[in-house]
Amino acid sequence: MITPIQGFSRLTKEEKIDWIAANYTTNASETKKLLKQYWNTDSKLQQLHDEFIENTITNYYLPLGIAPNFLINGKLYAIPMAIEESSVVAAASRAAKFWLDRGGFRTVVHGTEKVGQVHFMYRGDPEKLTRFVTEITHILISDAAPITKNMVERGGGIKSIALRNMCHALDNYYQLHCTFETADAMGANFINSCLEHFARTLKREIRGTDTLGDDERDIEVVMSILSNYVPGCLVRAEVQCPVSDLLSGNTSISSEQFAKKIVRAIAIAKAEPYRAVTHNKGIMNGIDAVVVATGNDFRAVEAGVHAYASRNGTYTSLTHAEIDNGTFRFWMEIPLALGTVGGLTRLHPLVKLAHEILQHPTASELMQIVAVAGLAQNFAAVSSLVTTGIQEGHMKMHLLNILNQMGATEEEKTQLLTHFRRNTVTHNAVVEAFQNIRRD
Ligand code: MEV
Repeated sequence: MITPIQGFSRLTKEEKIDWIAANYTTNASETKKLLKQYWNTDSKLQQLHDEFIENTITNYYLPLGIAPNFLINGKLYAIPMAIEESSVVAAASRAAKFWLDRGGFRTVVHGTEKVGQVHFMYRGDPEKLTRFVTEITHILISDAAPITKNMVERGGGIKSIALRNMCHALDNYYQLHCTFETADAMGANFINSCLEHFARTLKREIRGTDTLGDDERDIEVVMSILSNYVPGCLVRAEVQCPVSDLLSGNTSISSEQFAKKIVRAIAIAKAEPYRAVTHNKGIMNGIDAVVVATGNDFRAVEAGVHAYASRNGTYTSLTHAEIDNGTFRFWMEIPLALGTVGGLTRLHPLVKLAHEILQHPTASELMQIVAVAGLAQNFAAVSSLVTTGIQEGHMKMHLLNILNQMGATEEEKTQLLTHFRRNTVTHNAVVEAFQNIRRD
């Protein structure tokens, strides 16, 4: 029987591996061998990775691929993508090449404002609180100066602090709703430090004021934390071309039909949340892959993007398409809080390389690159869906994964790849063909 363990974090890495292998796996020696196979032989590099998180036992690889030929505002990028799903990098590359020949992607950043909130409970007169917060706003800002000094020098800092009365949603609930500019940093640490400072100053100032009554001075700060919902940190990415140039590569339909099918597919994703979720998932295939490769927080991005997709009360498509006077236009606006300094960007050698490959973008430039990867991915997915369907291309890409899973040798892989150039790839067909080869 497995019993709880005390002090797991204080065990050495070897001891942790021994414990997990002995208690939770059927073949302890194979487990240990497998985990150690993924250690880096360079002990310094290994230590660096060990120290990113707690209780590390090994490294978990994701493939890093490159999608070349992205023309964005006239500049050519090769985009690094870290993702486990087959077809995503191929689809991005295909869309990049397609739009390279049609003027490329155009992007614009509408804003880079981040948000954080101090949530607190107050049981007094709202008007008195409003006057009080207005009076102390300059103190909240000046008190945080030791934290904001460097950020201000880099062009960022606190933009606004507003008291919000939230009692309509929850009794006695108020917040300091604060906005920030964080230059090239994602800014989570900076924002959270500012907010915790605001909370301390707020409590101190309230305790010392005589503009509030005794019972009104007893506020309860519940928490101080940034928001991953950043609708003011918004980027737009767009492609357009004459409808007549929109050849699908599928000879059975015309450019006009193809354009109309894409517009209709987007209309369906706008009208129907079940479809919108999958539609947007395809966008996130591109976005997350670049976000991960560049060492950014994909959970934060995911949370913020999906909240934005439901900002009007119904979950809907993030992309838009129209045919206007013979021009096909396809675009997206999404919130992206990204950083190109700080965090993993300084630490992880492959993240550093990804930034180098992207020509050391600023945070704003990275927002544009990431948005383009999302738009390209969506264009590729919807194009396939409305023409051939996605399984044809997908299963071809998946073929190698299946062959690897079955332990095919290099020679068998070559033979089966040739075979499936002429035959439809299904899981069963691959297994059968593989068994036939082995039987011969
Ligand atoms: C698969 O990872 C993503 C797609 O389902 C996206 C879509 O349906 O638009 C192909």
